[in-house]
Amino acid sequence: MNYVKGNKENSLTPITSGWIKEILENKSLLDELMSTYGSPINIHHLPSFVNNIKKFQQVFKTKQVNAQLFYARKANKSKGIVKKALQTGIGVDTASFKELQQSISLGGKTDTLVLTSAIKTKEQIELAIDQQIPIVLDNNDECKLTQQIAQQKNAKALIAIRVSGFIVDGEKLYSRFGFDIETVKEYILQHFVKDKTYHLLELTGLHFHLDGYSTHQRGIALHSCLDLVEELKAHHLIIRFIDMGGGILMNYLEKEEEWLSFKEQLKNSVKEQKENLTFNGTGLGYEIINGKLEGTLKTYPYFNKINSQLFLEEVLNNKQHNSGLENYKRTNQQQVQLRIEPGRSLLNQVGITVAKVSHRKQDAKGQWLVGLEMNMSQMLSSSADFLLDPYIIYQDEIGDHHEEVKVYFTGAYCLERDILLKRAIQLPKLPAIGDTIVFVNTAGYMMHFFETEAHLFELSTNLIYEKTHEVPQTSDFIDDNLI
Ligand SMILES: Cc1ncc(COP(=O)(O)O)c(C=O)c1O
Repeated sequence: MNYVKGNKENSLTPITSGWIKEILENKSLLDELMSTYGSPINIHHLPSFVNNIKKFQQVFKTKQVNAQLFYARKANKSKGIVKKALQTGIGVDTASFKELQQSISLGGKTDTLVLTSAIKTKEQIELAIDQQIPIVLDNNDECKLTQQIAQQKNAKALIAIRVSGFIVDGEKLYSRFGFDIETVKEYILQHFVKDKTYHLLELTGLHFHLDGYSTHQRGIALHSCLDLVEELKAHHLIIRFIDMGGGILMNYLEKEEEWLSFKEQLKNSVKEQKENLTFNGTGLGYEIINGKLEGTLKTYPYFNKINSQLFLEEVLNNKQHNSGLENYKRTNQQQVQLRIEPGRSLLNQVGITVAKVSHRKQDAKGQWLVGLEMNMSQMLSSSADFLLDPYIIYQDEIGDHHEEVKVYFTGAYCLERDILLKRAIQLPKLPAIGDTIVFVNTAGYMMHFFETEAHLFELSTNLIYEKTHEVPQTSDFIDDNLI
C-alpha cells in the first residue's frame, strides 16, 4: 500500500468512508484525474449525500413530524449536489441571485426552494416572486421593497419572517439578522392584520438560524416560534412552516481521546512556547498574556458526540418549560411543517480535496515545507484551522528504511500565511515531487467558501462522483461545469 495517513502519533484521525479509502488505493486514477483537470481537484460523492439526507428524514419519520429539508447550498458551490438534492425530493436554501437562478434551472420550485440571502436585491426578489419561491424577510425595508415589487408585478409574494433575539436562560441571544422576537408579533399584527400595509405579502412561515451549536438554544427558539404561531392563529394568521435554519453539528474525528489530547498538547506547547506542534507556535486561539495561558481554541469543534441526527433529536425533544411538551409534539399538534437548512452536516463524508506536491524545501529553521499545487483559499476554514490529518499517496513504495519527517504544507499565494494546515504533519518519509496529498471531508465550506482567483489562478475543478463500475474509473467522475 502506498498511501498513509499523516501523524501516526498525536493523531487527529479523520473519519474516512469506504469510498474515500477506495480512491486512496487508486493512485493512477487520481493521477489521470489531475492530469485532465489540474491540481487541486475536489471530488464529491453523491451517495454519501443521499445517505445523510435519509438519516435526517428518518428522525422526522420516527417522531412523526411533517418536515422538509432544505440543503443550504452556500456550503458548496457544485451544481451536481443541488441537482441530487432536488432529485431526492428535498429542497434547497439559496442565498444569492445566482444560487436561486441556478437552482430553479436545476428543477427547484415553490415548495423546494427558499431565498434567505442576507442582502436582498431587486433582481432576487423579482425572480422569487415570478417563481413563487418563499422569501425569508429580515427587516422592514425588505418587506417594503418586496411589497413594491409585488405591486408592480400585480402578484403576491410568498414570505417568511426571520426572527431572532430569543431569550434563553434569562439572556438574550444577539443576532444582526431578523426581527426581534419580543416585538415581532406587534409588527406582524400591525402590518399584516390591522393596516394591511403588506397585503401582497403572503405570510407563510417563520424562520430562524442561530449562531453557535447549542441544541438547548435551538430548542427554546423553536418553542418561542411555536408560541408565536399559536398567538398569530388567534388573529387568523395561519403559519404553514417554521424553518429552523442550519448549524447542525457534524463530527469529523474518529476518537474523542485524540481530540482531548490535542487540546492539552496545544495548551502545553503554547505555555512552553514550543514551535513543534503548530507553525511558528501558533496557539489557534490560545496565547500567553502576562505569563498566563489565556484564550480558547478558535477552531470548529471537530469532535462531537452529539452530531447530525442526535443533534436534531435533542432539539425536537426539548420540553417546553410550562407544559413539559416536547417540540416535536407541539409541532404535530399545531400542524405546522418543520423545515431545516443543513449545509455542512448534509455534506458529511461527501468531499475530498486532492493536490499534487510541487516542491520540498527546508526553511532557515530547518523545517520542511512541502509546496502543493493549490492555494490557501481552496481549503480554508472560517475558523483558525482545519484540524484533520491528511493522507499522502507516495509514487514509490514507502519501504522499510525511511526517515520520518515533519512537514508543513504550503500554498501558491504570495503570502507568508499561505500555510495550508497550521499543524505540523508527521510523515513516514519526505514526499517526492508529484506525490499526492488528500484532504478528507472538505465539501462543507472548506473547498469553496473562501475560494478566490487571486493571481488569476483557475478555480479548482469540482467532480461529481457516482460509482458505476466495480473499480472506480475516470468516466465515473463528471465535471460539475457540465451539469
Ligand atoms: C440562514 C442559514 N441557513 C442555513 C445555514 C447553513 O448552516 P450549516 O452549514 O451550519 O448547517 C446558514 C449558515 O450560515 C444560514 O445562515
